Amino acid sequence: MKFEKKILCIGAGYVGGPTMAMIAANCPQYKVTVVDINKQRIDAWKSQNLPIYEPGLLETVKTGRGRNLFFSTEVTKGIKEADIIFVAVHTPTKAFGHGAGMAADLQHWERTAHEIVKHSNSNKIIIEKSTLPVRTAEAMERILQANDKNIHFDVISNPEFLAEGTAIADLKNPDRVLIGSRETKEGIKARKTIVDVYANWISRKRIIESNVWSAELSKLIANAFLAQRISSINSISALCEKTEADVGEVAYAIGTDSRIGSKFLKSSVGFGGSCFKKDILNLVYICHGYGLTETAEYWESVVKINEWQQDRFVKTMLQNMFNTVADKKIAILGFAFKADTGDTRESPAISVCKELLEEHARLNISDPEAIPNAKMELAEAIKQGTGKVEFHKDPYEACKGVCAIAVLTEWEEYKSLDFKKIFNNMKKPAFIFDGRNILDHKKLFKLGFNVFPIGKSALKHY
Ligand SMILES: NC(=O)c1ccc[n+]([C@@H]2O[C@H](COP(=O)([O-])OP(=O)(O)OC[C@H]3O[C@@H](n4cnc5c(N)ncnc54)[C@H](O)[C@@H]3O)[C@@H](O)[C@H]2O)c1
Repeated sequence: MKFEKKILCIGAGYVGGPTMAMIAANCPQYKVTVVDINKQRIDAWKSQNLPIYEPGLLETVKTGRGRNLFFSTEVTKGIKEADIIFVAVHTPTKAFGHGAGMAADLQHWERTAHEIVKHSNSNKIIIEKSTLPVRTAEAMERILQANDKNIHFDVISNPEFLAEGTAIADLKNPDRVLIGSRETKEGIKARKTIVDVYANWISRKRIIESNVWSAELSKLIANAFLAQRISSINSISALCEKTEADVGEVAYAIGTDSRIGSKFLKSSVGFGGSCFKKDILNLVYICHGYGLTETAEYWESVVKINEWQQDRFVKTMLQNMFNTVADKKIAILGFAFKADTGDTRESPAISVCKELLEEHARLNISDPEAIPNAKMELAEAIKQGTGKVEFHKDPYEACKGVCAIAVLTEWEEYKSLDFKKIFNNMKKPAFIFDGRNILDHKKLFKLGFNVFPIGKSALKHY
């Protein structure tokens, strides 16, 4: 079959895989190829067991796979034949050298830029899909234009706003798609080409066009604002616990004000995920680079509150379990950073579990999707051997014989567990720490539990 355009995506991760599956499903006229250097990941994309869990993903992949959606490790071949290249490689926080722990590590991104120049024989549009520091397009252009093949590259910023757990719904029906370019004749022409790709299934009213720097910066700022709302309500949760106010009632009361809005006001043990912390720290680093100390400090406090909230959760556990959890069995319900994903990157469960292990607790960890990742996250802590860890897919097994339960992910199925049965199989006094405020606290208290929600008075039998 002859395709109208050939689209390549470099990076077959949480962003590259689902976004390209969505483009392929909605644009049978384009050939969409996703390449990655990780063969295991590519093999999984070709199978029934996709490398990531996301509701609706397998069906979307299957719509295009073998028809106009292809997964491959042949990066060079993919670059040669593509008209449009999305770059969706990871851009983690730098772990070494200058800017370590703050700046974005751009080595994977830069490597792809060099690969593109090396293997291209024709003009191409290059799209920044990864989240990058503002003004990265300038560096990308400098690398790409340094070719002696007389090839022209247009660099577009098209940041991804999908949320894990709802990626397919978000991609199908996004609030907006943002496409930024240089405001030159060629830049605007390239931008229109990408607008036309998305317009195959998204209303043009929802496609925002901007200059390339605004697009790059908007992604960092969107994540910073989302995380800021969580840290704002979490900071208030501590005050609620001291004053008998109920954080849920406060969030509802303020959220009905249309100027504030009700979303992202749910108090919890803290936010996680691969993006929020990394993107805010990157923003902080950029601000320091421009000498904007106050702006940097303002946003850094969002991350600090998140760390404090996780630490506060563990302290509440310790204080109420007679200041020691040594050798005590504790069930951890949920390890993923949020429901409907197996992703555990920056999950609050990691720091909570590590702190409990440092206190020599014995943990029974349960999660419907995240146990393989949880094992990797805790491998080092387990090796050090202060505490002991067991993994049980079945939450009832995880709760057998424990003296406390900590709910760390808001999986729907935890709401309907038979807590009477669970209580009967626990050591007494039985404690439950609801880090996501998803359970019926009064009902649990009546069953005999000592209940510790976030931002609400504890319900104690003593
Ligand atoms: N995960 C999210 O929810 C999300 C949402 C929006 C934006 N983002 C951003 O998207 C980017 C990708 O995130 P992700 O979660 O998909 O990362 P990921 O780690 O899941 O995937 C990145 C993939 O790129 C591959 N890769 C790296 N270098 C390569 C190279 N030179 N050639 C071929 N493949 C290469 C890796 O092997 C990996 O499979 C990041 O910048 C992230 O900040 C992520």
